[in-house]
Amino acid sequence: MDKLIVTGGRPLHGQVRVSGAKNAALPLMAAAILANGPLKLTNLPVLGDLLTMGRLLTFMGGRVEFGLTAKNEAELDLTRLNRPEAPHELVKTMRASALVLGPLLSRWGRAKVSLPGGCAIGVRPIDLHLKALRAMGADFDLSGGDIVAKAPADGLKGTEIHFETVTVTGTENLMMAAVLAKGRTVVANAAREPEVVDTGNALMAMGAKIEGLGSDTLVIDGVTSLKGTSYAVTPDRIEAGTLLAAVALAGGEILLLDFPHAVMASVIAKLKETGLELTPEGQHLRAKAPSELMAADVATLPYPGFPTDMQAQFMAMMTKAQGTSVITETIFENRFMHVAELRRLGADIALEGRTAVVRGVKSLSGAPLTASDLRASASLVIASLAAKEESQIYRVYHLDRGYEGLDQKLGSLGASIRRVKA
Ligand code: UD1
Repeated sequence: MDKLIVTGGRPLHGQVRVSGAKNAALPLMAAAILANGPLKLTNLPVLGDLLTMGRLLTFMGGRVEFGLTAKNEAELDLTRLNRPEAPHELVKTMRASALVLGPLLSRWGRAKVSLPGGCAIGVRPIDLHLKALRAMGADFDLSGGDIVAKAPADGLKGTEIHFETVTVTGTENLMMAAVLAKGRTVVANAAREPEVVDTGNALMAMGAKIEGLGSDTLVIDGVTSLKGTSYAVTPDRIEAGTLLAAVALAGGEILLLDFPHAVMASVIAKLKETGLELTPEGQHLRAKAPSELMAADVATLPYPGFPTDMQAQFMAMMTKAQGTSVITETIFENRFMHVAELRRLGADIALEGRTAVVRGVKSLSGAPLTASDLRASASLVIASLAAKEESQIYRVYHLDRGYEGLDQKLGSLGASIRRVKA
């Protein structure tokens, strides 16, 4: 197991490219199940979760080739799928494995998917996915911890679905089920996240009929088949935000290449409030850290609100801001695992239910830290950039699941960050 050794106090300078979005790439890989030809994905980030999804699709009988023509590309051919199953050992490491359920049911009529267990950041059930698929005619049995799913003999049927909570992968799962279903599916209270839009756009490039992407109502008319295509994954807004939080904490000035301006409004507005100077330069963004960060309050919300996936990194910033910040997590009930670790660096954070009150301190000092989940680990890395002396961060496999070489990117900007086999 690798660990990272970070010595804080070095400002960041230079330029770095934003990678493709993990949370768009995962449903796009699952969408390959729907195609009757190979799907080529470009601008893929190289990270752990995508390799897991690749293993899962290979297990099912698919051909998944990463880096055949270029490092950030993959070709996926699921036309000879013969085992529509997602086993526990793969699902337990990555909840997003549940994304294969909708495509398997609509293309192959059956699926066996291990029920995702609890997870560090909350209970995270998939009841809403199942309820929506059931409304389309699917039948579910629970056996030995697996969901055994079947579509009616003549396929899933379009219907009207109202999600009682906005769910990102739930919306994607249902969209992938509906594109090959009979008739029209109307999805109300659909997630509007850019990754949902990217998945929908790729499905349309494959021949699907979807209206309303980016709004809370989707209208999907089922087609009889989808073809393979080539599709470039959208840049990762969370990686972009993480790099901005890093420069805010470490100080300095960086240029983010391929910055996804259009989908960053809530993050940009909040980071500007803290004093970060952000200037668009064509499709890039220049970010300059202020001499002192100012405290700002934030509440996480579904898109276009402030993303829960940026909450931990924002909290890291606030540990050194001038003033007091109130951070409210409204999406997940237990997404404050980073608080105890940030305190080890000297942060002053009080927790009450879903709210954290962060009183900015003058300085942080390095400590041994343990990552608990993906975004928590990112927050520890960037907080360490602002800490005096050395920090050691254990369990960085959480980081590697969702970031393409974040330590290398920060190192290329001048951070002192070293990976050691622990
Ligand atoms: C996705 C993202 C994750 C992000 C989250 C919220 C991927 C692979 N992951 O996760 O990075 O943090 O969106 O933006 O895209 N819920 C239920 N029942 C369900 C489904 C969800 O109660 O069937 C609840 C969840 O527990 C949570 C809320 O709804 O409280 C939102 O979760 P959801 O949007 O589904 O998150 P994910 O799709 O799992």
